Amino acid sequence: MRPSPVHPARVYRRGGIHDPVLRRGYEACRRATRARGDIEYAVSLLLPPPLRIATWALYGAGVTVDCLADTTQPSDTEDAGRAERLEAWISAFDADLRDGRSTDPVRQALIHTMLTWNLPPGFMHTQFEQLRLDVQGRQFTTWQEWRRYNSLVTTPFVLRAASLMMRVAGLSAEPEAIASGVPEAAVASQRAADAIILTDALVDLSEDLADGHVPLPQEALDEAGVRRADLLDRRSTPAFEELVRRLADRARGWLDRTPVPPVLHPAIGIALGAYTDLYRLRLRAAADAPAALLHRRPALPDGARLRVLLPARARAALAWSLFPFPVRPCPPPEPAGPPAGLAGAGEVRSVTAEGRSLAAEARSLAAERRPVVPPAPHPSGARPPRLPAGAVPRHVAIVMDGNGRWATARGLPRTEGHRAGADALVDVVHGALEIGLKYLTVYAFSTENWKRPADELHGLMQEIPRQLHRITDDTKPLDVRVRWAGLRSRLPADVIEALVEAEQSTRDRTGLTLTVCLNYGGRAEITAAAAHLAQEVVSGRIDPASVSEHVFARHLHVPELPDVDLLLRTGGDQRTSNFLPWQATYAELLFLDTPWPEVDRRDLWSAIEQYARRTRRYGSIPRIPAQARPADRG
Ligand code: IPE
Ligand code: IPE
Ligand code: MG
Repeated sequence: MRPSPVHPARVYRRGGIHDPVLRRGYEACRRATRARGDIEYAVSLLLPPPLRIATWALYGAGVTVDCLADTTQPSDTEDAGRAERLEAWISAFDADLRDGRSTDPVRQALIHTMLTWNLPPGFMHTQFEQLRLDVQGRQFTTWQEWRRYNSLVTTPFVLRAASLMMRVAGLSAEPEAIASGVPEAAVASQRAADAIILTDALVDLSEDLADGHVPLPQEALDEAGVRRADLLDRRSTPAFEELVRRLADRARGWLDRTPVPPVLHPAIGIALGAYTDLYRLRLRAAADAPAALLHRRPALPDGARLRVLLPARARAALAWSLFPFPVRPCPPPEPAGPPAGLAGAGEVRSVTAEGRSLAAEARSLAAERRPVVPPAPHPSGARPPRLPAGAVPRHVAIVMDGNGRWATARGLPRTEGHRAGADALVDVVHGALEIGLKYLTVYAFSTENWKRPADELHGLMQEIPRQLHRITDDTKPLDVRVRWAGLRSRLPADVIEALVEAEQSTRDRTGLTLTVCLNYGGRAEITAAAAHLAQEVVSGRIDPASVSEHVFARHLHVPELPDVDLLLRTGGDQRTSNFLPWQATYAELLFLDTPWPEVDRRDLWSAIEQYARRTRRYGSIPRIPAQARPADRG
């Protein structure tokens, strides 16, 4: 008999999961947890809804990927097919996590949990590493090697889990602080993790053997006089039975020497106590029938199981009612929801009273939808290169530099350089549409450019509205949505008006998003976001512990701007000059000597071709050959 959980629909409602697609993902994770992690599922039911569904997502997603990697398909050669499926899932997950969303329900639930609880991007990689180990069937020679490996992959995971539980108890402590502040706690939790890994190695032995793997260090077999070949042939020997009993004793000893940490919330203590008690039962089940381990996973005896769970459930319920769950989780916004940034950030441009009236006015203009026209081809007849799906970057950002030097070299005033530069931008926008780019962001004027002589500033400010009008031209509208990132301060009213109008009149377009960084400074953007977030914390709307990178990014000028894939600078200098420091941390950089007025769409295409030949690693290392990687994420 299983404990009777509260109905999942109610759990999701109380856990704040309303979106049906997201629910579907959590539901898949719940089922996977129940099917593969009987102990984890039983313990999850001792937790309140927000934590319960987080447990399902973290555990269930791991199990889902594990099954994906475990299912051998007819086309698989050795472990290669499984390893590739595993790596494809992991790279799709990494890419989706950078985006903050996924079209795969399980990944979406996992990402939702990671963002809600502000888990670091590498958090799941400890689990993934364990799965890789399973797929490769990695062998350990000595116990020392086995332990060192466990400590590398599980310590960060265990400490992060401990820091989460402390947050549930109303305390905020980073894992690193726990490790350095309470070293005994770190050692004890590592010992508990070793016990759990060893127990799982015993109970999952038959599955591992079926894959040709022996999950125990060779040293353990040698000491006990057990032959690997006997195990692989499922031959039970007295030596093997003795080995199982000895290992079960060892794991039980580790568990017994691990006191339940003082986690402050009594219900968390109860849940952890039940977890270790159930593991003790699992060890007893293994030690009671060692020979059977070669053929099947031992089941927990129902009676003993309920003797642990029933009192735990009653005590946990009482503890939660006496000390209610103190944390308000901070879920990410619904994918289709409005951007949450900006409100109240006085200096930032889209919120002043003036902005609102202009916006309202321009919205009425946008109301009349006009059909869009395709981009005009380049006069030379050049066509965009054909690149495989996924090779075209999603977001290209350009520092359009070299206008002034270009003009000076021709004996022209610098303003002429800016005018010619605007022509280049129009051509590049056409090329971006032709090649199917979704986001193009251009640096048009920096917060530092106010240091320039008054006549150049004057010329520039005159030129900007004219150029914006060209791009959003009423008679020849391209499928380009214009956004503006920058500050209002010091900009002439007609420039602000032109920017707001361009944004509003193109808001329904879906082809290319052209973000114009004008009066933009990267540090100013980050500082404004930090100030706004600080306000939210002071007013109690945000818990400081839930400030994740994604929460922070919601307060940037254009919150929905994705990470930059390719950052291009023309004009010969190799620096970024305060351009998109937040968004471009992992951008590929490319510097061209050509001054911006001489650039056209062909330079963009060739830059994209160079980008397509690069390997992006995001701190990891490539695990599968390039041709086996998923062409696109889905
Ligand atoms: C970039 O060209 C455009 C703006 C900064 C507005 P520059 O004006 O910086 O041209 P150079 O670098 O002096 O040639
Ligand atoms: C960066 O160019 C700003 C724009 C292209 C708008 P700058 O010409 O201002 O950069 P620095 O001063 O050479 O770094
Ligand atoms: Mg310059």
